Amino acid sequence: MLLEKYNLKMIELRNRMVRSACYERMADNDGFVTDRVFKLYSDLAKGGVGLIISGNTLVHRTGFTVDKILCAYDDKYIVGLSEIASVVHKEGGKIALQLTHGGRQSVPALLASKENIAPSAVFEPLMRAMPREMTEEEIWEIIEAFALAAKRAQKAGFDGVQIHGAHGYLVSQFLSGYTNRRDDAWGGDEERRFTFVGEMLKAIRKEVGDSYPVFIKMNYDDYMPGGVTLPEALRTAKRLQDASIDAIEVSTSMYESKIKTARPKILDAADEAYNRVAGMEFKRAVSVPIMLVGGVRSKSVADNILKEGYADLISFGRPLIRQSNLPNLFQQGTERAACISCNGCMNFGKLDYVMCVQLNKHP
Ligand SMILES: Cc1cc2nc3c(=O)[nH]c(=O)nc-3n(C[C@H](O)[C@H](O)[C@H](O)COP(=O)(O)O)c2cc1C
Repeated sequence: MLLEKYNLKMIELRNRMVRSACYERMADNDGFVTDRVFKLYSDLAKGGVGLIISGNTLVHRTGFTVDKILCAYDDKYIVGLSEIASVVHKEGGKIALQLTHGGRQSVPALLASKENIAPSAVFEPLMRAMPREMTEEEIWEIIEAFALAAKRAQKAGFDGVQIHGAHGYLVSQFLSGYTNRRDDAWGGDEERRFTFVGEMLKAIRKEVGDSYPVFIKMNYDDYMPGGVTLPEALRTAKRLQDASIDAIEVSTSMYESKIKTARPKILDAADEAYNRVAGMEFKRAVSVPIMLVGGVRSKSVADNILKEGYADLISFGRPLIRQSNLPNLFQQGTERAACISCNGCMNFGKLDYVMCVQLNKHP
């Protein structure tokens, strides 16, 4: 099942494996692509994955999530982005650009104003920052920035875009009752918390048209008091479907949540696919394709998830950092990814860019 072809809206995928977005920290300091970025995406495409979702890419200068991040907030980035799309297409792959704004989880030191913006002033402990509540004008400016970045991705030849609506970044902050304490058109109840992403989808569609694939990654649980939980997430998924979303990737958590997005210690099959139950609930709630991410390591586990209908596509993050050719290895009979979920690849202090630290030890 995992290695079967799949049609995702108008994209013909060579298999059902998705590279879940992983920031690279490989752009230059001005957000332009480098040879290292081209090599990464060329290797991933050569490795056989069906759909690549790029690392989160910045739509507005007020939302840096990480240093050396890819940027799409200006037309000057289109040329570089188009070279990423072409190296992927040359190797028979497909790629969507992940669009993001960090909101209260932005790195203050990387912002011109040194001040994070967010739906509400809720202190962010990891960034040690109290964000400023966004004005109505700023909200519309950021919505427009997402739409323009989507248009740039389309112009650059990307096969689609994915809104980063998960992990406590700005879109997720608007959806979450924990971070959105507003009582105006943009917050106050579930429906109004949806307004930001709902308006964003309308603005994106105006720029890219109805047939261009637009996906979202969202939390089924924020694991925060007053935050998103599964029943609300399922209603949000229905709203997204009605608002023309083409696929939903199901994930969890914010920076400060105790239960993490990328969980460590995936030791055996029982630890794998830790979001699978939510995947099944999403499959029951909506008819758009569901991508399931989180701890999938074995081909047989992935095959079973697809067979049992817990998801339509399986996303892999850390395993493809370790083995960009994992899809080809699965094809050749390998059963399990070599990734040991040590999370060394997320160690900012020690690494200049994202890489597998185990591989580095044992080349
Ligand atoms: C180094 C690293 C960078 C990541 N960057 C992003 C990102 O840019 N956007 C995103 O949505 N998720 C990001 N994630 C989360 C992954 O996409 C994925 O959801 C998570 O690692 C769980 O899947 P896995 O067990 O297959 O790794 C990142 C994870 C890692 C390890």
